[in-house]
Amino acid sequence: MLSKLKSLSYWGYALGLLIAIQPSYIHPDEHFQTLEILAQKFGGIKGTIPWEFQNECPARSFVPLYLFYGPLYFILFKILHIQNPNIILSSVRLQNYLLYVIMVKWFLKQFCEPKTIKSINFLISTSYITSAVQSHSFSNSIETLILLSVLACYKILMSSSSAKNSDAGQNSANKNNYLINIFVAILIVIGIFNRMTFPAFILLPSLTLFSTYYIHHLKSFLLFIITGFATFLLCVQFDTWIFNSNQYDTSYNYIIAPWNNLKYNLQVSNLKLHGLHPRYTHILINIPQILGPGLFLVYITIKGQKFNTLNKYNLPFLSIISALIILSIFPHQELRFLIPLTPLIFITFNNIPSKKWIPIWLLYNIIMNILMGCFHQSGIIKMISHHQQKNTDFGIHIWWKTYMPPTWMYMNPNLTVSTTEFINDTTETIDFDEITSINQNYVIDLKGCDLNLLNSTISQLLTKNENLTLIVSDSMKTKLFTLKPYYDITEDFHTYTHLDLDHFDFNDMSTFVLGLTSYNVSNIKEEENKNEES
Ligand SMILES: *[C@@H]1O[C@H](CO)[C@@H](O)[C@H](O)[C@H]1NC(C)=O
Ligand SMILES: *[C@@H]1O[C@H](CO)[C@@H](O)[C@H](O)[C@H]1NC(C)=O
Repeated sequence: MLSKLKSLSYWGYALGLLIAIQPSYIHPDEHFQTLEILAQKFGGIKGTIPWEFQNECPARSFVPLYLFYGPLYFILFKILHIQNPNIILSSVRLQNYLLYVIMVKWFLKQFCEPKTIKSINFLISTSYITSAVQSHSFSNSIETLILLSVLACYKILMSSSSAKNSDAGQNSANKNNYLINIFVAILIVIGIFNRMTFPAFILLPSLTLFSTYYIHHLKSFLLFIITGFATFLLCVQFDTWIFNSNQYDTSYNYIIAPWNNLKYNLQVSNLKLHGLHPRYTHILINIPQILGPGLFLVYITIKGQKFNTLNKYNLPFLSIISALIILSIFPHQELRFLIPLTPLIFITFNNIPSKKWIPIWLLYNIIMNILMGCFHQSGIIKMISHHQQKNTDFGIHIWWKTYMPPTWMYMNPNLTVSTTEFINDTTETIDFDEITSINQNYVIDLKGCDLNLLNSTISQLLTKNENLTLIVSDSMKTKLFTLKPYYDITEDFHTYTHLDLDHFDFNDMSTFVLGLTSYNVSNIKEEENKNEES
């Protein structure tokens, strides 16, 4: 059985690599918190400047972005001069996937008995979280890598402390430990600058480390604190420098991005903009969705005697508990917040239940890989690539009822982007003076606005422009075509591989379709009108 698992793992990693580079699009943050802003920095192109990077208190740091993607972006943009956004997207996904696979291998060596490595490797290699989520450019994906390294360092420090009595090699072990102390302090600070909730993942493991190791090694602790503080100052300095070099109109004395982020997130009125969830969402909805049939393993792990391995020195287990408790306090709870826990959860499973269970597990992950890893909103990426290939100036692109188009993929140095706004939390509107003043390389994201706003946007724009391009999810086709009497709407490009999970309407079966279409829209020509009338 074990050798079968081993070959299944190889298959899992190979197919996972393929899934990782599919053009699916799971959440706007995978573009707007990383790739969008980096492409503008490295590629000299224009796009969207996300709110986290622009208002009076920028809430995201450039430090982790430059560390994790800077070298790759430098090679792609400055050395190879890549113009194709798909190559850039695939390279990022490939890098994330491979880094994770390598990191996991090292991590498993630190934490698992050799006989359980194979089954845990099997779970990680075949889980859709590895191929379809971790490979995407979320800050959470970086968080996974940092968390695994920090826990592995903790483990090394703790075991060096318990093996202390053997005098031989004591000196070199000490030297080694000083390096690990420095390394782990740097990692933790970068982890916090990456996501300010990072401490939630390491709180209980850190208390354990303190009570078993640092309490006996105060010099090391001092080194840890000093390194951490120095890293913190460097990060603040770097962010201040980068933000001031942006041509956004504010100038800053200093920027502590995670602090700004915390302030922002503590205001429930802000979180409302991103969606409020019940406090049990992580435990009762997100974890089951991550694990699928793997939930059964949680059950037998807790029920069986295996539970006694989950003792107070089990760092992965402590990390899971501490993150779940603290993250559940926040009212904004998305699945991707938990992806750093996925490998840790697998590690606490000591065995795989039965041959019968494996096909069910595989089936669940294949389905999720197809839905989330291949089809989800993937028409958007294909659509932009299609339009971008022409590599010339274009007119006006209106996006309606899709995720935010990742505007960096237009790779256009003259791009302008406008979007809708809410007034009084209820009415969605757009600035008509602004949108009628631009007529080239212009992207208008109408998000999920209603048909009326779409109609008035089109009719306003057509007073100044001959035609425009309208990109709409096929689930909205029936609604869109109610505008056919007023405009000339002709199909221009169509892709089937676009899954829109947001606009199902059980009263209208036509909303249950795959696909994304771009249309040419213009005013109905007078002559045609006359012809029809006569
Ligand atoms: C687009 O930008 C480039 C470089 O910034 C500039 O040379 C060019 O004139 C611009 N084109 C238009 C149509 O504005
Ligand atoms: C769309 O706008 C046109 C022009 O303003 C108007 O005549 C028409 O009634 C509108 N249609 C709908 C369905 O709102």
